[in-house]
Amino acid sequence: MRTNLLTTNSEWLKNATQKLTVAGVESASIDSLIILCFSLSLPKLEILTNPNKILTRKELKLANKLLTKRLEHYPISYLTKQVEFYNRTFYIDRRVLSPRPESESFINLLKLSDISNLKYLTDVGCGSGVLGITSKLEFPHLNIELLDNSKNALKVTGINVDKFQISSKIKLSNLIGNSDYKFDIILANLPYIPYTTTINRAASFEPKMSIFAPDNGLHFYKALARQLVVKKKNPKYIFIECLDNQITELTKLFSNNSYKLTMSEGLVHRFSR
Ligand SMILES: C[S@@+](CC[C@H](N)C(=O)[O-])C[C@H]1O[C@@H](n2cnc3c(N)ncnc32)[C@H](O)[C@@H]1O
Repeated sequence: MRTNLLTTNSEWLKNATQKLTVAGVESASIDSLIILCFSLSLPKLEILTNPNKILTRKELKLANKLLTKRLEHYPISYLTKQVEFYNRTFYIDRRVLSPRPESESFINLLKLSDISNLKYLTDVGCGSGVLGITSKLEFPHLNIELLDNSKNALKVTGINVDKFQISSKIKLSNLIGNSDYKFDIILANLPYIPYTTTINRAASFEPKMSIFAPDNGLHFYKALARQLVVKKKNPKYIFIECLDNQITELTKLFSNNSYKLTMSEGLVHRFSR
C-alpha cells in the first residue's frame, strides 16, 4: 500500500479489500472498512459517505500497519480491541477467545426458558464475560457469577464488568470447583475442539486453553458433570456449546445426572431437569 501519495477512503478500501481477498481472508471487505474506521476513529457511515476524503499521513500509517497484521490473519477483534456480541460492544484482547456469533444462541435459548423464578446464574469458562454479562443485562433480576481458571482471562472479564457497570462475582476456579454459588442456571462454553482438529489461521492467535480439550473434546464437560455430582448441585438448566458430533455422547453423560436435552439452537444446547 502506498504511503507517500494522496490516498482517498475509497482507494484505500479497494486496495485493502483486494489484498485481503488474495490473502484468503473471507471477510475482506468488511475487515477493510473496520480497519479504516478504527484508524480514523470514525463510524462506518462517515467513511462510506466521504469516499474522496484524503487520509492524513498518520491515518494512512496506522491503517496500513493494521492491514499488514490482518494480512497475516491476526484476528480483527484483537486489532480493534473490541467485538460485537448481542448488539453490545465488548472489550477484547489476546488474553481471551474472541466470542463467536454462534454463542449468541446461549442468550436466545435463555430467553426461551422459564427463568422468572430463578435467581443465580453461573458462567463457567467466562473468558471475556460476554455470556454472563449479557445475561445480566437482558435479565437484571439474575445474580451472576463469572468463573475461569485463567487469571489473565479474568482481567478481561473485569474490564467488561466495569464497562457495563454490572454487579457480579468474579472468581478464579477450575470449572465450578472453587464456587459455593446456588447454581440455578449454568452457562458453559468450555473448550471442546479435539486436538486432532485443524483450526483456521486466525484462531491460531487465540489462547489454546480456550479452544482445545482432551478426550475428543469432551474432557471439560465430563469434568463439570462429575463436579455437579460431588457438590450435590442440580441447577434447573445447563446450557453448553459443542460440536454436532459430540451432542449424543453429552446427552448420555448428562442423563446420568438426570438431565434431558430439551432445546437446541445451532451449536448451543439446553439440558433441564
Ligand atoms: C471457549 S472459551 C469461552 C469464553 C467465553 N465464555 C465465550 O463464550 O466467548 C473457554 C473458556 O474456558 C476457560 N477454561 C478452560 N479450562 C477451564 C477450567 N478447567 N476451568 C474454568 N475455565 C476454564 C478458558 O480460559 C476460556 O476462557
